[in-house]
Amino acid sequence: MGFIEEIKRRRTFGIISHPDAGKTTLTEKLLLFGGAIQVAGAVKSNKIKKHATSDFMEIEKQRGISVSTSVMGFEYRDRKINILDTPGHQDFAEDTYRTLTAVDSAIVVIDVAKGVEIQTEKLVGVCKTRNTPMMVFINKLDRVGHDAFDLLDEVEQKLNMKVCPLSFPIGMGPEFKGVYNLYESKLVLFDPHSKQELGEVIEFRDIESPELEKYIGERAAKKLREEIELVSGVYPEFNLEAYQNGLLNPVFFGSAVNNFGVKELLDCFVEIAPSPKSSTTEQRIIQPEETKFTGFIFKIHANIDPNHRDRIAFLRICSGKFERGKNYLHVRHGKQYRFSNPTSFMADKKEVIDEAFPGDIVGLHDTGKFVIGDSLTEGEILKFTGIPSFAPEIFKYVDNADPLKSKQFSKGLEQLMDEGVAQLFTLKANGRKVIGTVGALQFEVIQHRLQHEYSASCRYEPANFYKACWISSENAAELAEFNRRRSQFMCTDKHGRDVFLATSQWELNAAEKAFPDVKYHFTSEF
Ligand code: G4P
Repeated sequence: MGFIEEIKRRRTFGIISHPDAGKTTLTEKLLLFGGAIQVAGAVKSNKIKKHATSDFMEIEKQRGISVSTSVMGFEYRDRKINILDTPGHQDFAEDTYRTLTAVDSAIVVIDVAKGVEIQTEKLVGVCKTRNTPMMVFINKLDRVGHDAFDLLDEVEQKLNMKVCPLSFPIGMGPEFKGVYNLYESKLVLFDPHSKQELGEVIEFRDIESPELEKYIGERAAKKLREEIELVSGVYPEFNLEAYQNGLLNPVFFGSAVNNFGVKELLDCFVEIAPSPKSSTTEQRIIQPEETKFTGFIFKIHANIDPNHRDRIAFLRICSGKFERGKNYLHVRHGKQYRFSNPTSFMADKKEVIDEAFPGDIVGLHDTGKFVIGDSLTEGEILKFTGIPSFAPEIFKYVDNADPLKSKQFSKGLEQLMDEGVAQLFTLKANGRKVIGTVGALQFEVIQHRLQHEYSASCRYEPANFYKACWISSENAAELAEFNRRRSQFMCTDKHGRDVFLATSQWELNAAEKAFPDVKYHFTSEF
């Protein structure tokens, strides 16, 4: 297969949702269709979970929260699909935000009974800023939930989406009969007794046909016809370009646990979802078809084996062909490195690969040379943009708790920060270290990992900060004055940039008023 065909057949995406909406279940079903996992019959999904997701960290098992972001690749209808799993738990939101920098599209899962939840709003917001194309899967139709039209309204309002239903449910809960697939003009019937089986699929070009009554009964047929008429009247027709530019969001209904509506979603997805897109760097735009390899590190993960401190750096390939054993430039180090065992991820298996193409995610064995955002190229000096750190909102002072282990403590802390577990700030006034995170659980993760991986221990002290923001100004005198007047709240991030730790929204507002020429940024890229 030619280089261009390899790029065109790739679909790299993430599934985002509020915890419990059904992301893991949907992922498993997609993997089943791709033959990446085999599960006979109605095996309980949490049993599959162990295999389907890469539970790298012990803490994840203890808490049952997906700490890690894993990659699952499989083939389906000549397409190479890469699913980038994203932790739904809000404490790991930053991990998820970062993963979303490496996808070309996303599927948003919504629970029919719960509607749009807060975590979904945040994650969709991140995708929106990047114009990432998104499809919506409304899940758990086998349960009683909100009316379909009300849900579509809610999606439009809360997620600021322009929806375009490509399937429509026939009843829900105990009355759930199936969906009408508007994209393929098919009636897909739900059989509550044949769990995990595909429902009967009937070609149904004309919804006015009296045949409809035969399948779903008079009342449901009448209602469906009215609803489909309303759908065509109210919602825009599907338009590929609008979807691919992030301006239109196709919606599907189904029940992931019953494997219902998942195939329709996947079949449509492989047809319409974009292949790898161009990437931006500080220097220029990179097209995937360019022959020279480029890529960036979007995630760094501690290795599965707690006896080894080595890590896996996740590389997203942006252009050209990545080849095993070839020398590539690590732009930040200005050094060439060779990777003798790059791995790809196929569901629960990792395997060494000889080559990989734009859109693919490759795992690189790392002993500490990478930080998030690093670029690899064939020699060109490039810095990829759009991989920012996000302003943390929870803070603690951190100190070494074991004077004999100060080296391990510093090294551990530095490496954990490079992985993006949290952000470390150093107060200019007294050199104290402050850890900032998006979620509270990260503090426990850091403590646990320092202990288990670095034999170091840390002590936290409460730090009464409300928000960290990066500051900049073209008015050097005002910036200097800001630094002087707010000196006890000023710190530097790991790149030495100025960060202001505000203690309250009121204080932030006051600073904005007092220093109108200073700009406040809530991501590290500005
Ligand atoms: P998440 O990754 O988004 O957090 O959600 P996950 O897939 O783990 O699903 C959360 C719960 O919702 C699971 O139940 C799962 O079985 C259930 N679920 C997923 N899809 C559907 C659906 O279409 N209909 C119904 N009724 N339930 C669904 P659980 O009890 O937490 O776990 P389990 O023991 O069933 O695995």
